[in-house]
Amino acid sequence: MTILPADSQNVARAGDALRCGGVVAFPTETVYGLGALAFDRVAVARIFEIKGRPHFDPLIVHVLDRAMLSSVVSTMPRCAEQLVDRFWPGPLTLLLEKSAMVPELVTAGSSRVAVRMPSHPVARALLAAAGGPIAAPSANPFGGLSPTRAEHVAEGLGDRVDLILDGGATEHGLESTIVALDPSPVLLRPGAIPAEAIEAVVGQLEREIGPGALAAPGRLGQHYAPRTPLRLIDPSTVPAAERRGAGWLALRDEFDGYAAGRTLSREGDLRAAAAFFFQALHELDSLGIERIDAQPLPPTGLGLAMMDRLARAAASRNA
Ligand code: TXA
Ligand code: MG
Repeated sequence: MTILPADSQNVARAGDALRCGGVVAFPTETVYGLGALAFDRVAVARIFEIKGRPHFDPLIVHVLDRAMLSSVVSTMPRCAEQLVDRFWPGPLTLLLEKSAMVPELVTAGSSRVAVRMPSHPVARALLAAAGGPIAAPSANPFGGLSPTRAEHVAEGLGDRVDLILDGGATEHGLESTIVALDPSPVLLRPGAIPAEAIEAVVGQLEREIGPGALAAPGRLGQHYAPRTPLRLIDPSTVPAAERRGAGWLALRDEFDGYAAGRTLSREGDLRAAAAFFFQALHELDSLGIERIDAQPLPPTGLGLAMMDRLARAAASRNA
């Protein structure tokens, strides 16, 4: 496995690798992705293999521009246009009817493809170098914490990936917001664009989220989980005897008597908190503590997206 600085020479090398059926990890403005050319079935199959991801869990397709978009989708509803005008390039993923070119492996047999136009300069340069849309899930083992740094990719996937483009820490630190148009807009995954900002454009979103809604793709319960068991609880209510050996994660507070802890943002700023969120979980997860007590966050704006990740992490590990 090679971590390479994302300069133009290495981006060109990664583009070559993709055009030869390779799989490469690269930064986006949300988290690092594990990419292959979306129209190359064999390369896409390798993504599933490398991540240990079940084939029923479909992949997001990344496009550079409108021309690439039109090779991926067959129709663009009017409210999709409004969202594209407002939020692309950026961390919004739309579920749209797929074109015949998109392999069913990418969409897990669905007629709809999840598509987004990233804003990160390295992701965009890679799309240009590859010359076609890139299917890419987050570059972590299936179910684990998303990577916000090249080192996280290396730790999680090790030598299973040939090449990691290092673009430093990602800006948003949370995955894209996923919206379906059914035809009225449905929030499938809260993410880096607050639901409220989307509602300002297309009106009320139907919200089908949370660990209760498990059946459909994108709504698996066990997801975004550290190896360390995590529970959602206000650490201030945890007795001293239970604090020893455990760690806490909180928005702006600090707690005594624990073995470790991470404050997401001393100012309580949700944007700053989101940018540090997965990094903080990766750090706590590396300490060998027996449990993480995560403080519930306000379920609005980016707090909703972080709460979604914490609830899923908690759901899989604690009865
Ligand atoms: O910010 C992001 O979205 C990052 C970067 C790399 O772009 N990608 C990402 O991909 O988070 P992934 O695979 O970790 O999460 C995508 C989610 C999955 O839960 C998947 O089930 C859902 O989107 N999804 C993808 N295609 C879908 C489809 N056709 N129908 C329903 N859900 C879909
Ligand atoms: Mg993921």
